[in-house]
Amino acid sequence: MKLFIDTANVSEIKEAASWGIIDGVTTNPSLIAKEGRDFAQVVKEICAIVDGPVSAEVLSPDAPGMLKEAEPLINIHPNVAVKIPMTLEGLKAVKELSKKGIKTHITLVFSANQALLAAKAGATFISPFVGRLDDVSEYGIGLIEEIVLIYGNYELPTQVLAASIRTPLHVLDCAKIGAHIATVPFNVLKMLAQHPLTDIGIKKFNDDWAKVKK
Ligand code: G3P
Repeated sequence: MKLFIDTANVSEIKEAASWGIIDGVTTNPSLIAKEGRDFAQVVKEICAIVDGPVSAEVLSPDAPGMLKEAEPLINIHPNVAVKIPMTLEGLKAVKELSKKGIKTHITLVFSANQALLAAKAGATFISPFVGRLDDVSEYGIGLIEEIVLIYGNYELPTQVLAASIRTPLHVLDCAKIGAHIATVPFNVLKMLAQHPLTDIGIKKFNDDWAKVKK
């Protein structure tokens, strides 16, 4: 499974990229706003750090506006994937962009039917929001299962990019199910590497070594 980092914080991206585990980056308007920096400049810096897809989202409610917003983003770097909310206007924009071979990422997906439409429109990636479904007492990982099954039934090329990942178990379940990608916040990425028994083992090795070291 590919791992993307879900942040617009360039320092977090640099640190995570240094671990050798990051295949791409996803941002969204809230993550960009949190940095308080120029959108295009942040995307440009991210593209220089990670050699993989970098999602940048448009906010227009209609397809013409989405396509107009997408132009400067696409011109930043070939790795930019235009992130578009799952609406009928979003499907129109995705269809137009995918015809031109431009990477697209349909986001805010909360049902398998939405995911089916997104794939039919030609989306490169789709993001079901696991954590936000959990937040309303629905089974977020269950949606990943449904979408992976449906895409597999018809060999649809659209990649399931699981998002709104809140815990290491979300990542584990996505990998077990066969999601193509999980986009993970920096703090959760760090948790993936950690285990108390590893820390205990390192301490014991050092303590035992100290006893015999001349
Ligand atoms: O970036 C899209 C998604 O990962 C947002 O996650 O935690 O705000 O639901 P969250």
